[in-house]
This record gives sequence, structure tokens and C-alpha cells, in this order.
Amino acid sequence: MTKVQSGLSRRRLLELAAGAGAASIALPFARPALAQAGPIKVGVMLPYTGTYAQLGEAITNAMELYVKQKGGTLASRAIQFVKVDDESEPPKAPALASKLVQGEKVDILIGSVHSGVALAMSKIAREENVTTIIPNAGATQLTRSLCAKNIFRTSFTNTQVGLATGRTMAEAGLKKVVTCAWKYAAGDEFVAGFAETFALGGGQIVKSIDVPFPNVEFQSALAEIASIKPDAVYVFFAGGGAAKFVKDYAAANLKANIPLWGSGFLTDGVEQAIVGAGDGVKTVLHYADDIDNPENKAFRAAYLAATKKAADVYAVQGWDTMQLLEVGLQAVGGDVSKRDALNAAMSKATFASPRGPFKLSASNNPIQNFYLREYKNGANALIKTAVTAYADPGTGCRLSS
Ligand code: BEZ
Repeated sequence: MTKVQSGLSRRRLLELAAGAGAASIALPFARPALAQAGPIKVGVMLPYTGTYAQLGEAITNAMELYVKQKGGTLASRAIQFVKVDDESEPPKAPALASKLVQGEKVDILIGSVHSGVALAMSKIAREENVTTIIPNAGATQLTRSLCAKNIFRTSFTNTQVGLATGRTMAEAGLKKVVTCAWKYAAGDEFVAGFAETFALGGGQIVKSIDVPFPNVEFQSALAEIASIKPDAVYVFFAGGGAAKFVKDYAAANLKANIPLWGSGFLTDGVEQAIVGAGDGVKTVLHYADDIDNPENKAFRAAYLAATKKAADVYAVQGWDTMQLLEVGLQAVGGDVSKRDALNAAMSKATFASPRGPFKLSASNNPIQNFYLREYKNGANALIKTAVTAYADPGTGCRLSS
């Protein structure tokens, strides 16, 4: 951490100065008027290479588009993004987060996609009390036992998605399922959530197959699925790995006899890569391409015009990250030194998202609809709302709401 002579961090001294009213004038480094004149620095820690690269790009595109639509400012303050590529590699995360928070002295931190990266990054965010928004990573603990007043999520918990999918698959009458997921925090939590509600609905997991992250060698898993012949397969893969799995599954001729289901990450963000191979794959997620609300229509049209790409769930999460930040910045008149007020306003934010109504739980995780979708003709079509205003049911967060 950058130290000043007193041995306290510059950030901590600025906080003390902000809380000290007139006394702050005496501190040589507490220059709120000057500090507020420049741009708000937003540190962005996302994957731009590796299997989750497309996810990081979609989040970034949507955040930049949002700010561009607002003339480059939020709450009358210019926004400056400072980006780093975390490569979805958790061991690199502490140094990258430190670089942004302590080196670049960003006012706001945004990241990441991979649960392991977000867990490491959030440790620094908590220690430094920097307002942080997680635009994807679903590590459940982050909004349970590790929750903090300065940490927000605009995505989901992995468990929440798994729970919504398990109950939807049980309601579809499926009884015996094989699960197949990447072996890391996210995959484990998607399967654990799924297992809970699928069992409650009378279903049974007959085999759980783990694949090391980020391996995309699926042949032995597919051979095992073919020999077990379950009613269906429930899968968590995302990004490049998801596209490969869907194509390999179709090529192995399994799709006709063993329906492929998953959390929506299986077919989201990879719509063009799985044309044909993905037809008929059913998934559950907090977004579907054709959700019929004005926000979704306007967002998709603007995103397509700006990027020449169709929007996906990751883009929606990036968009809502900026919506959430704007609510906070407006509440403090763009003065990011008013951290407590900024955080308090964000925790109470409600707004219309392309996904439907958006609000946060007492642990700063979205309460949102989950949709049953079917991939067809290059898009994730809405079949029905599977569950409305669904919160992660977790306890363990000690935030007062
Ligand atoms: C995760 O690591 O939390 C994650 C990554 C990609 C999609 C969904 C979740």
C-alpha cells in the first residue's frame, strides 16, 4: 500500500479527513475540491485472454457503452476506466488488485468473471474499503460469510443459479441426471445448488463428473454419459469451454436421446459458435435474449449498433454494473470520498434492467427472476419465467440492512 509519513495509507487518511469536517483542511493531502475535479477512476479487472475472454469483453463493451450514452460522465463526473487482464488466474489476482487500488488509486473497483479471482480480489477490496462491484463471478461466499458493505454484485451466486435450475429440471419431470462441471469453486457450487432442489423435487444425481478447469477435453466424460444413459445431463461450462462441450455433445450423437441441460452459461455468450449443435439445449438463467421489456429492446439494439455483436447475459451484467454505480454516484453528487453514503445508496438501488426488475438483497446480491430458455437458431429463447424475484437463500452475512 502507498504509505504517507504517518504510516497510515493515503486512502485511510482521506477517509479520516473526510470524516473530520473542517479539520480536514489542515491535512496537506486532503484536497476534496481538487480531487473531485478530475475523472472518477474505475479499475476494471476482467479476463481479456483465455477461456473467459469473451465474457470479459462483453462486460467491458456494455460498461463503456453505458458511459458513452451518458456523454462520458456519470453524476457529472468524467469516468476513466483503468483495465487489467486477470486471465482468469486466481494466483495473479492479489497483485493485479493491488496495482489498481494502491498503484492506480482507483476510486471504484470492478471485477471479475472467475470465482477464484473474485475471492482473491475482494480480500483487497475489503481491506482497502474500496467500493467494488462484481459483474459476474458467482462465488457464493462473497455475498454470504464474506459479505461487506462496500462489495456489491450485479450477477448471481453460483448456488442461486443451481437452485433455480434444479427445481426447474425436477418440474420438467426428469428423475436421473448426470452432472458434469469444471472442478473449481463455481462448478462445485452450481452442482451443490442444483443437487439440493433437484432432490427436493424427487430427482437423483446418479453420477457427478468433474473436469479440471480450464480443460476442454470432454471425450471420457461423454463416453461415461453414453454408458450411464441418464434422463438428462446438467452441465456447468462457460465461454470457450461451453461452446466446445455443446459441439462435442452433438458430435457424439448424444443430444437426441439424452437431453442436454445446464446453467445458462452453457449457451450464453457463445450463440454464434454453437449454431446447429446447440439447438434444443435447455438452460436456466436470469436473462433470455427475447425478454419483452423496453429496457431489453433498447439495450440490445444499442449494443448491436455499437459492437456489431448480439448482447448476452455478460453484457447485461456490465450494463447493470454501471446502472448501479450511477445510482450511488448521483446520491453523493459524484463525490466518491463519501464512501459510506455511496455504498448505502447502492445497496438500496432499484432499477429496470434488461433482465427485468433489479434490486439487491441485504447482502448486496441481486434478487431477480430466473428464466427457462431454449437455444434455437442462434439465440436463447424464453420459454417461461421459472421463478420470480428469487434471492440467494444464504445466511452468514453480518451486514445490517
Ligand atoms: C464463476 O467462476 O463464478 C463463473 C464463471 C463463468 C460463468 C459463471 C460463473
